[in-house]
Amino acid sequence: METRISEIADGIFRLSTFVPEIAPPSGFTFNQFLVLGEEPLLFHTGLRRMFPLTRAAVGRLISPERLCWIAFGHYEADECGAMNEWLAVAPRAQVAHGRTGSMVSLSDMADRPPRVLEDGETIDIGGKRLRYVDTPHVPHGWDAGVIYEETTHTLMCGDLFTQVGDGPALTQGDVVGPAIAGEDLFNYSSLNPGMGATIRRLSSLAPRTLALMHGPSFAGDGAAALRALADDYDRRCRVHGAAASPRA
Ligand SMILES: [Fe+2]
Ligand SMILES: [Fe+2]
Repeated sequence: METRISEIADGIFRLSTFVPEIAPPSGFTFNQFLVLGEEPLLFHTGLRRMFPLTRAAVGRLISPERLCWIAFGHYEADECGAMNEWLAVAPRAQVAHGRTGSMVSLSDMADRPPRVLEDGETIDIGGKRLRYVDTPHVPHGWDAGVIYEETTHTLMCGDLFTQVGDGPALTQGDVVGPAIAGEDLFNYSSLNPGMGATIRRLSSLAPRTLALMHGPSFAGDGAAALRALADDYDRRCRVHGAAASPRA
């Protein structure tokens, strides 16, 4: 396995590892995003077992012990499995996550206390500004959230738009159709009545780049892509709700 590095927005680097054994024959990518600044931030730690690979990839860009912030969308192995390995190599690093995840998981599982991010709070890492937005249960996880980098208009949207395959690092093509196919394949989202509205709210950020955890990054009208994805989840919830309704 190798990790490829691409700059998908100014000072934001995608570290991408393709695993052909997952969802064959298409395979599946795991992407971390290193946001450079005076206090560099890594969004997604990578799986614990992939830590040597991820660490080596970060090391091609910065000295790993310089890392200051570790953030992710929700508590799950591919999002934060290597969190404590990172805390060990980067003595100044802090895990930053929303209130729910900090209370429910990180206060126990992280080797150092997390920095709690309030919904809508922005942290300035010196050259980049990252806004945390709560998205509970979207696409899954009570503690779920996303991070928006304000200076480059980049939404690090975690598992939203998950797709299979090993596409380009950055595309201007369709990311909604492949995301719908990804949901059909994995059923990874916690369908809930507020899901469409939660995703639609993110469109008000008007992102120019969407940084997908599993798939290519997207450059273009991020708001339109988010609204289209929200519409599809509304449709799914209607179908699901209708199927779940008790019959007379
Ligand atoms: Fe996930
Ligand atoms: Fe993920």
